[in-house]
Amino acid sequence: MVLLDITMIEKVSIKNYKSVQDIEIELGRFNVFIGENGCGKSNILEAITLGAASASDKLDSEFLFNRGIRVTEPRFMRSAFQKKNVLNPIKLSFSIDELDYSCELTNDNKPYSKWINKSNSNSEVIGKEIVDLLFSKKRSKSKEIDPELSELRNSFNSLLSTLDKLSGTKEEKENLRGKFKSGISSSIEKQILNPLSNFVIYSPEESSLRSFEKDGQIEPLGRRGEGLFKLLKTFVKERSNKKIKLLKEHLRLIDWFVDFEISDNKLTEEKNLNLKDRFLAKELDFIDQRSTNEGFLFLLFYIALLISDETPDFFAIDNIENGLNPKLCERLTKLLNQLSEQNEKQVILATHNPSVLNGIDLKDPDQRLFMIFRNKLGHTKFRRITLENEIQGSDIRLSEAFLKGYIGGLSKAF
Ligand SMILES: Nc1ncnc2c1ncn2[C@@H]1O[C@H](COP(=O)(O)OP(=O)(O)OP(=O)(O)O)[C@@H](O)[C@H]1O
Ligand SMILES: [Mg+2]
Repeated sequence: MVLLDITMIEKVSIKNYKSVQDIEIELGRFNVFIGENGCGKSNILEAITLGAASASDKLDSEFLFNRGIRVTEPRFMRSAFQKKNVLNPIKLSFSIDELDYSCELTNDNKPYSKWINKSNSNSEVIGKEIVDLLFSKKRSKSKEIDPELSELRNSFNSLLSTLDKLSGTKEEKENLRGKFKSGISSSIEKQILNPLSNFVIYSPEESSLRSFEKDGQIEPLGRRGEGLFKLLKTFVKERSNKKIKLLKEHLRLIDWFVDFEISDNKLTEEKNLNLKDRFLAKELDFIDQRSTNEGFLFLLFYIALLISDETPDFFAIDNIENGLNPKLCERLTKLLNQLSEQNEKQVILATHNPSVLNGIDLKDPDQRLFMIFRNKLGHTKFRRITLENEIQGSDIRLSEAFLKGYIGGLSKAF
């Protein structure tokens, strides 16, 4: 376990959340969900968001809504397959690297009642486990001990022996030792939960992307695309210019794009993104974000989301294909996958567009494709599509395999 570099949510288990009665899903670094309308893709993403809200101790409806949950009456947040479910808790659990975070969310279904996590103890256990590891003399059995961890352990132990040398009774010293450990434990706990805590379901909207006036509720980027201008400004201000260069390089996926600059007029309060279009006359070749095409703005948003150090380490993009040409979808998926690896971001994409599937490489275990469906009872379930059991031996592209019905996920109603 690399203590200071915890990044992966490896397993998610969901019980009693909307159409997700009971599933356990093992995620990779880059994940794609595909499946019919209404199969429960967004519900899985929402359940993860709810767990994230619980991990950051912010279960109020406003927070849930701003992260992408379609907040309803509490009884309809549970699986409505059986009457008794409406009183049962929603149970969520996450394996974060080798540690677990679980929550059991209850609500008495009265008007304005809040969600409460009944199983706080679980996340505390994580911090305590690490503190024990830090203070134990034994080496971890299965894992190479991280040099950082070993250094940390040495400094903690020397701090503790300094504490022991202070004057005071044995009881007082014990007490101090306990407080010291629990302080460390809770800050470690926060750090472990950090990648999960900030989970957002992004679903950018053209109108939010085009108007630079309002900043969102969530910083740096809101789920509808708010805050993009401010984030771009931070890229411009960076000394190294690395992010701006990267952004411009990748934006050239759009044929007309040459360059952009940011103009922020403090007097008129006008915020503009001046975009150079190679087809336009020299005197007129800068257009602004109000005149540009929708797909460009989506691309700009997604690249900024992936390359920023301020955006969450773990997030989802719902309906990624929105406003994008199929070929661009494929290129964008490849790009997002590459950026997710370079910037250590864990991503889930939900889509209906088969060309997104061509952007992933199933030979790489970090890239995973899940076909989401509802079983005979209407419960949301999934199947992980792998090369071995689905499409081995066939050299057709994943988009074709999907459209031919080989991997499921197509509506049978038509
Ligand atoms: N409380 C609930 N209990 C059981 N099922 C529910 C509950 N609330 C909503 N649903 C069902 O969940 C389904 C919606 O799932 P969701 O929105 O996740 O689908 P989706 O796969 O994202 O679809 P789309 O591709 O159209 O966005 C609906 O069919 C709805 O009937
Ligand atoms: Mg959806």
